[in-house]
Formats: sequence, structure tokens, C-alpha cells
Amino acid sequence: MSTWLDDAVFYEIYPQSFNDTNADGIGDLPGVIEKLDYVLELGCNALWLNPCFVSPFGDAGYDVADYCRVAPRYGTNDDLVRLFEEAHARGMHVLLDLVPGHTSIEHPWFKESCRAEGNEFSGRYVWTDDVWTPVGDVPGVNGVLRGIAERNGAVAVNFFAFQPALNYGFYRVTEPWQSAMDSPEALATRQAMKDVMAFWLERGCDGFRVDMAGSLVKDDPEQEGTIALWQDMRAFLDERYPDAVLISEWGEPDKTIRAGFHMDFLLQFGTSHYMDLFRCEHPWFSREGAGDASEFVATYRRNLELTDGRGLMCIPSGNHDMDRLRKYLDPEEMKLAFAFIMSMPGCPFVYAGDEIGMRHLDVTSVEGGYQRTGARSPIQWDASEKNFGFSDAPGDQLYIPQDAGDDAPTVTAEMADDASLWHEVQRLIALRRATPALGVSAAVEFVYCEKNAYPLVYLRTERGKGGQRVLCAINPADRPAEVPCDERAVRTLHSVGEAASLLDGVLSVPACSATFLELS
Ligand code: NOJ
Repeated sequence: MSTWLDDAVFYEIYPQSFNDTNADGIGDLPGVIEKLDYVLELGCNALWLNPCFVSPFGDAGYDVADYCRVAPRYGTNDDLVRLFEEAHARGMHVLLDLVPGHTSIEHPWFKESCRAEGNEFSGRYVWTDDVWTPVGDVPGVNGVLRGIAERNGAVAVNFFAFQPALNYGFYRVTEPWQSAMDSPEALATRQAMKDVMAFWLERGCDGFRVDMAGSLVKDDPEQEGTIALWQDMRAFLDERYPDAVLISEWGEPDKTIRAGFHMDFLLQFGTSHYMDLFRCEHPWFSREGAGDASEFVATYRRNLELTDGRGLMCIPSGNHDMDRLRKYLDPEEMKLAFAFIMSMPGCPFVYAGDEIGMRHLDVTSVEGGYQRTGARSPIQWDASEKNFGFSDAPGDQLYIPQDAGDDAPTVTAEMADDASLWHEVQRLIALRRATPALGVSAAVEFVYCEKNAYPLVYLRTERGKGGQRVLCAINPADRPAEVPCDERAVRTLHSVGEAASLLDGVLSVPACSATFLELS
């Protein structure tokens, strides 16, 4: 595994909404560079940057029209290279967002593939052989686009209607128009995506968060074809760019780790029960104490077994597709959520703005965001400045309107208050760094987790020499809890709220608290 991941705490930047340096109402890459020291001060040392490439922005940039050119609204390729350099100079790393499954309909590959006359790109997308022939109800296909090409065919789409599916072949070929995975056209698509990765890795990028990574090979119900495809991509990287990191949006860690990814995300979809903790009617982290973490833990355990105890699962505070965490939890509850996120295996991800408890806004959809738009509003840096310091553009020209509340949280206010959520996130990241047992690959064992109950208690153990053991006890409920525990604590490393105590075989966990106890 790339060694820098051992120490990585990620910060996801949605570039549109981060920091605008040229007063056009939209964030840009110089704006990201300007804030690198801020990110570092919080304690994050790695970035995931959402797509920043040329695009018609029907899906906020997940509809790429040129994989190898930065969208002018964000700056230039040179700006992106400068971002890599500035990040590296600070010991930070940068993941770009690779969208390998589909492009925009404006991508030159797609325009060529629409032509009646056969050419190099005729097989680059998943086309049927007649405009009236549907692609069918096939795993990996999300509909069909027909009627926009001079060629006689319909094309499969992956997400929105304007995101035609790139052709990596079908695992089971049952129709004459379907390509096999090892057909020349499917292999050409694969090569083209390797070229895209190489293009940015050559320029200093450290790896990729891979969009819809499990969707590439069609009619592949067990995803064995897609797994084999990524194994090949990984072999290519290992040969030429062994340090390049791949993190998947897939949601099935056993498959992705086998496919060669370093880590997989726990997501708002899939089987992880991630939402039970943070975003549902009764989130486990709410002080009402009516949630359930047991199904999350059961699935997490199963995934640990399936991944050989490596548990390389990333737990994000949120992302640009989910409702803001603050919609479900207040800042005090969020501190406990971060106590969990920062003390679990795998790399934690902070979604920009969650560290100050930005709210989910009720705003009109922008660039295909729909309900997701509320989680994508521009960062509130400083209340004393125009547009909270995000941009010098007139307020009505911002990419997405900002939080209009008088009590909108800001970075400066949070940083000025030692008791704030921001400072707690900073302390928790520092604790993680200083504590080998809380590291990426240290073991985790769930000591107490009952159905519909509190607290959650888990033991982290450093692998190898030191063998440090840290007991993590989290009780978001507004009532104290006691559980039997035969361990002996040496010292309290940190607590959020009143610290738990471990005496005479009983672990007493105060209401609304999280405690990290080093064990003998
Ligand atoms: C997942 C991305 O996170 C989301 O924002 C996007 O709309 C879809 N994939 C399609 O690329």
C-alpha cells in the first residue's frame, strides 16, 4: 500500500464552492492553493478534488468533455500542476476525480462515435445496432439515449441521459452488437482511460477517487468482469506509477480491494448501513438516543472478514451527493460523529464545510444537483467579508446561494472559539496522528454494540511492535450508560465531553461523550 495513505486524513473539495479568486462567483484552483495552509491547519493532509475538467456541467463536471484539460472556469492545466506542487511542498497529496464510466455527449469521442461512417470511435460507447433496439435491462446500464446520432443505434447511459456509457465490453455477450471484454474496441477504451491516468500522474497527481467504479463492464452481475478490468488497470499503475492511489466509489469493499483499489467508500447507497449512523429518521449519533448502530457494525465486521481484517473502508463525514451532516445533527452531536470517523480504520474524509457545521440549504437545483445542491453551497469563510469571503462577485452571481441565516457558521468564528466543532475536529485529527492504535490499518474489534442501544465500544490495536491498545467509547445519547468491561485503563488520551471511567469491570460512559482510553 502506498505509504502516504498510512497517515492520510482527506479533505474533499468541491471546487465550484470552495474559494473564488477572480470574482466570477465560482471557486477556482488558485483559490484551492490559497487555502492549502488552512486545510493543513485543520490537520488534513490529502485532498480529493471533484472533477475540474472541461465539461458542459450538466452534472457539475461528472460529464467530462476533455479528460486532459482543466475547465477554464477553474483555471488552467498549469494551475492544477501548481496545486500538486504546492501540496507536495507541504507534505500533502492530491487525488483527482476519475470518471471512467461515461463522458458528456460533448466529448469528441462521442461526437465521432455518432457518425454514420465507421471510425476509430464507433465502438467507444455501448451502442446497439438499431435506433429502436433497446440496450435492455442489464446490470450496469441506466437507460438509453436515442435519436441524437446520424448512426443507426441507441446508446446506453450510466447516470443522467446525457452521460453515455463508455464501452468496456459485456461480461456475458448475448447480442451481436455487444462487445466482449477482450474485443479491440473494449480494450481501446481501457487503454484510453490508462492514458488519462498517466497524463495526470505524469504531472504530479497522486491518484484518483474513481466515480462509479463498479459500473464499467455491462451485464456483469457479480462484477467479476469489472474486477478483472481494474486488476489490469492496477497492474498498469504498479508498473509505471506504483505510488498511485485508487479509492473507489463502489460500496463493496471485498470486491474493490480484490480489484486492486486501496480503499472503498462507505456510502449513502449500498449495504453498509452508513446512513443509520448519520442520516435517517433516528440517526445513532443523535442525542435522542433512539438510533441503531448494530446493523452497521454487523456489516462492517463482515467486510473486515472479507478483506482479511484490513478494513480499508473510508468513512466520510459527507460528500457532494449527500445531505449535509448538519441537517441531522447539531454541532455537539457532530463532534461525536467526528470522534467516531477519526478513530476508525481506513482513511477518514472530511467534506469541506462539515468541519464548521455548514447547513444543508433548501435551494434550487444547480448543474444537475437537485437535492444535492443544498450540500454544495459556497464555504462561509468570514462573516465580516462580502459573500462570507468566498467571492468578490455580486451576491446574486454566486454559483449557488449561500446560507442566509444570521447564525451561519463561519471558519473565522469557529477558529476563534476553542470550544467549537472546528477545534474538536482539529484535536481529533491530532489525536489520530499521535496514536498508532488509531491508524489506518490498526485492528478494530467491537466490544459492545447491541441493537438499539448505547454506547458503542470498540478496541483498536496497533499491529506489530508497540501493540498499543486504545478503547474507544462513544455515547451520543443524553443519558449515561454502563457496560461490563474487563480491561484496565492506563490513561485517558482524550475525551469529547465528560470522560468515561473504567473501574471494577465496569465502563461508565457519560451522556453525550466520547472517550479514548489507552489500555495496559
Ligand atoms: C457519483 C458522483 O459522486 C455524482 O456526483 C455523479 O452525479 C454520479 N456519480 C455520476 O457520475
